[in-house]
Amino acid sequence: MRAVVTGAAGFIGSTLTDLLLAEGHEVVGVDNFDDYYSGKMRFLSRHLENKDFKLMEVDILDLDALRQSFEDADVVFHLAAQAGVRISVKDPLRSHHANTTGTLNVLLAARDESVKRVVSSSSSSVYGNAVRLPAKETDPAVPISPYAASKLAAEYYCTLFYKLYGLQSVSLRYFTVYGPRQRPDMAIRIFTDRALDGLRPQIFGDGEQTRDFTYIADVVNAIRRCADCPDPKGEPLNVCSGSTVSVNQVVSAIMKAVGREDLKPEYLPPQPGDVDHTWGDNSKARELLGWQPKVKIDEGLSRFVEWYKKEGRV
Ligand SMILES: NC(=O)c1ccc[n+]([C@@H]2O[C@H](COP(=O)([O-])OP(=O)(O)OC[C@H]3O[C@@H](n4cnc5c(N)ncnc54)[C@H](O)[C@@H]3O)[C@@H](O)[C@H]2O)c1
Repeated sequence: MRAVVTGAAGFIGSTLTDLLLAEGHEVVGVDNFDDYYSGKMRFLSRHLENKDFKLMEVDILDLDALRQSFEDADVVFHLAAQAGVRISVKDPLRSHHANTTGTLNVLLAARDESVKRVVSSSSSSVYGNAVRLPAKETDPAVPISPYAASKLAAEYYCTLFYKLYGLQSVSLRYFTVYGPRQRPDMAIRIFTDRALDGLRPQIFGDGEQTRDFTYIADVVNAIRRCADCPDPKGEPLNVCSGSTVSVNQVVSAIMKAVGREDLKPEYLPPQPGDVDHTWGDNSKARELLGWQPKVKIDEGLSRFVEWYKKEGRV
């Protein structure tokens, strides 16, 4: 197949690009290399000589350029976004432009270029402080951050484009993805980085908040399967491990993996926009995709720490 990956230089997009090229597909990587964090080109540079890979430096807010990048594509995996809750609290318009207007542009370009399916990226944050755990796709979505609101609006556009124009799509609600290449603003990476420098982990809140951490290889496996699963009808789909651990537990596991169990956490005030608990029900993804998450948290954390020590800190 010919696939477009938007956000191809990022954490999830670059890992997906590796998988698609390894399977022998043609990939057009779209990214504007935004200034949110640096060093992304190194994930893609290994593919620049590959005849099946084409890199297009395009901003998804540029609709004409986006249309060109979607020519002859069978599927668009849409990962480009302004990720992160905290930056959205500081600069809501930035998240809105990239995530809501950006996704609307992706859908318009896909419709105009007759792309068969769009696999869009949403977030567990749309649930807010979920009414029930584990959260199911049919539960109410009540965002408590501009990031979550921008992602929920993007989901609505996906559903609408299915109903109005018949454009097949799915909005994948990822639950805290972690593993090699993880973004530098994410907690697991910050805890690891500080520990390697001999600094105590800083936890926002009492550390008893829980997260459904999902390993990157499991996530890209689910994303890939969305290209040829039965019609997902423009609906949301949880991509999660289906289990949950506290931030305190994760910090202990990282300190163990780094060999710095002597470093005890420092607790800071909770951050606005952060939810207390995330925990997803993945039965819909299991059924629709024939998928199941494989990597357990201890194994995933030790793989991450190994990668970070070898390659992550450059
Ligand atoms: N990592 C997670 O835990 C997580 C959880 C929930 C949802 N998500 C979503 O998954 C997707 C990928 O996240 P990630 O962690 O890989 O983030 P990332 O920041 O590593 O990757 C996003 C990529 O998009 C690019 N980009 C940003 N704005 C763009 C624009 N206007 N035009 C073109 N490219 C643009 C960036 O340069 C970057 O390479 C995002 O949609 C994010 O919101 C991620």
